[in-house]
Amino acid sequence: MRKAEQLKQIVAKEAVNYVKDGMKLGLGSGSTMYFFMKELGERVNNGLKIVGIPTSNKTAEWARDFHVPLTDFSKTQELDLAIDGADEVDPNLQLIKGGGGALLREKVVAASAKEFLVIVDESKIVEHLGKFPLPVEIVPFGWEVTANKIAALGCEPERRIVNDNVYITDNGNYILDCKFDKITEPEKLNNELQSLVGVVDNGLFVNMTSKVLISNPEQVKVMD
Ligand code: 5RP
Repeated sequence: MRKAEQLKQIVAKEAVNYVKDGMKLGLGSGSTMYFFMKELGERVNNGLKIVGIPTSNKTAEWARDFHVPLTDFSKTQELDLAIDGADEVDPNLQLIKGGGGALLREKVVAASAKEFLVIVDESKIVEHLGKFPLPVEIVPFGWEVTANKIAALGCEPERRIVNDNVYITDNGNYILDCKFDKITEPEKLNNELQSLVGVVDNGLFVNMTSKVLISNPEQVKVMD
């Protein structure tokens, strides 16, 4: 396994220790969460009782593969703990997410949880957000107009293309990856983006994170 993968696996294993019997979980998306789901599945096989709401079709697939029981918001509207990866984490625990395109469901799930635990390797820690292009989920209708409005906020939006095809989210929308110079006021930018017609949500997770676990080759550190 590559070193980067190992660090993801280490932090994911540590995060499973935060899961207690009877909890209702939010299950994030991305490659770090893959390792979390695998480890959680092992604990479930050993008797741990939990249910989870997945943030993407991919995570739901992993849950089925690893025998992690799922539920949905028709049965429960408050989660005890949501766990998820991130693309960038700043010193105030503000995040950029959505590299995997699941930002909308990830935000709905994180906002429904009493605690939001973020798991990353040390490469995701930054002084200022913005080196990673900010994913913004927009409705396909009139996307060119919405892209122009977002560009006027000071970035270069690019519609996400994967394998030569326009990327479509689990919600049937497009993603614009928006390159800002540096995001010094995440809360302000989040509000500006959310006020634009055509924007469904964006990858800034502002004032949502309870705790971040960060793996480096020596240890797993906690930031809260
Ligand atoms: C998906 C996400 C992921 O959490 C984020 O992209 C980090 O992914 P990975 O664990 O693969 O580095 O926000 O929408």
